[in-house]
Amino acid sequence: MIYAANFKTNHTRQSTREYLAKLQIQLMSKKNSGDKVYVFPPLTALDDYNSADFTVGVQNAYPVESGAYTGEVGLEQLAEFNINTILIGHSERRDILNESQDEVAKKFAFFKEHNFEIIYCIGESLAIREQGIEAVMEHLISQFEGIDTSYDNFVIAYEPIWAIGTGRVASVEEITETHNALKKIVNKPLLYGGSVKGANITNISAIKNVDGVLVGGASLKPETFLELVLH
Ligand code: PGA
Repeated sequence: MIYAANFKTNHTRQSTREYLAKLQIQLMSKKNSGDKVYVFPPLTALDDYNSADFTVGVQNAYPVESGAYTGEVGLEQLAEFNINTILIGHSERRDILNESQDEVAKKFAFFKEHNFEIIYCIGESLAIREQGIEAVMEHLISQFEGIDTSYDNFVIAYEPIWAIGTGRVASVEEITETHNALKKIVNKPLLYGGSVKGANITNISAIKNVDGVLVGGASLKPETFLELVLH
């Protein structure tokens, strides 16, 4: 299983350091050898953590090496910390920051060219979910536009927008149906995200085509994230 913690705009440099120190101790002794753990802290908390037990990635970056892009971070800044894992296409970036599919695809192509491991997020709104699975799949497929789905270093995260940070997790039936359909289209590791927590990890991780989870709220404390990783 893959366990990915997305801190979003939470935690400081100091609290991230403390968090990762706790995580390291627990993972060293207890982590299942087949599991992979990722942590995506905010940009200001990035550093070269260089651990065999977890990977630190970036939540977003601009698809350039360096240059005149005020307020953005490019490859040169990530290389300083040996970061080569990135989240691309999170619904908060698509919706709140208005990132278009075109921009998302440009980021994908750039970071692919630089051999980054890419965790690529897709997901539908509640209005689309209410129209049924065909509308959901049509939308999800549109989020692969311009994306080279044959890229090797590529993980997909299916995150229904209506389940993110709402406490309303998708049902086992909804996840099963959607993941089965997605696997037929792109056969890559497939994470589920959206209100994953200790109370539902056993049911979610037991679903056949769920290869891991992307976690926001329940990842903010090392204790609640470890509850998932060590369940
Ligand atoms: P959540 O966030 O676990 O707080 O629902 C998931 C995500 O946005 O990746």
